[in-house]
Amino acid sequence: MTTTVTDLAALESRAAGELAACADEPALRAWNTRYFGKTGEMAAALKAVGSVEPAQRKAYGQEANRVKEALTAAYDAALAARQEADLLKSLAEDKLDVTLPGRSPQPGRLHLVTQTLREIYAIFADLGFQVFRSREVESDELNFGQLNMPPHHPARDMWDTFHTTTPGVLLRTHTSPGQIHVMRQACPDPVRAILPGMCYRFEQITTRSEMQFVQVEGLAVGPGITMTDLKGTIQAFARRLFGQERQIRIRSSYFPFTEPSIEVDVDWPADDPNRDRLTKGTGWLEIMGAGMVHPTVLRNGGYDPAKVSGFAFGMGPQRIAMLRHAIDDIRLFWGNDLRFLSQF
Ligand code: DAH
Repeated sequence: MTTTVTDLAALESRAAGELAACADEPALRAWNTRYFGKTGEMAAALKAVGSVEPAQRKAYGQEANRVKEALTAAYDAALAARQEADLLKSLAEDKLDVTLPGRSPQPGRLHLVTQTLREIYAIFADLGFQVFRSREVESDELNFGQLNMPPHHPARDMWDTFHTTTPGVLLRTHTSPGQIHVMRQACPDPVRAILPGMCYRFEQITTRSEMQFVQVEGLAVGPGITMTDLKGTIQAFARRLFGQERQIRIRSSYFPFTEPSIEVDVDWPADDPNRDRLTKGTGWLEIMGAGMVHPTVLRNGGYDPAKVSGFAFGMGPQRIAMLRHAIDDIRLFWGNDLRFLSQF
């Protein structure tokens, strides 16, 4: 342990010698840690003042401080000289290879689902529809009850549901409960809205289905709205999205919240080599469920079904994206694999 002025002299000359022998910057930094680090020798020597005999303490303390300052100054000068020399050397010797190809930045991009949704928003915006956002954690009452499916209604079996631990609270199985929210907010004014968002179903995950997926709901409510309006709206939408030649076909169907209920098919281009596979040989492809809003649902939204009517539809943008880009596995959307995502 360093406790005398003689010890300090020995420490100083050893440290100065080692400093002079440091060949590069890492060696200099290691030296600094060795002497001035928390447990370094110089730090210990300074701390040792307390254990020096009282008679010598003052002289020891002064000398320790002087040695510390001298070594610090020597280190700073050595480091600066080393860095300067390294820089000059690198300027003289390192050559810039201007023929080296640059590193191109990797800009981010919008997810295919977002791109598809934005196309859908743009088309419906031209048709006068606003985007309305509705909650993903929903009450049983709005997801089912207010949509004309009271408890124990067999139609509830159409949706395999994730229930939360709070009774009566679930993850919405479809965007349709947003119809009630938007109607209650707009009533008594007319509604023309699309409601995009994530939905959840407790399904077996296969190439054709996922537990979570995006839907776009549509709703129009007002005086004198008819099935013809629904048909025209869907036709205009299908043509904007899939091409000006597209025809739509309507089949009768069943949903508890619409009456009558339909399913809509679009004819698929005859020159698409995937046509047979996609349409199972029929030439027609289902794109959505739809119908005239059930009077009970209108009433639940606050409207008088004697005065207004409405249409609604629900579609899956992921399915639409799959059709347009010949994607054969819906799990790719949330798989976060850049090899897939960066293709779009
Ligand atoms: N909610 C239905 C589903 O997820 C889709 C649907 C069908 C929505 C008909 C509608 C509709 O608005 O009118 O299966």
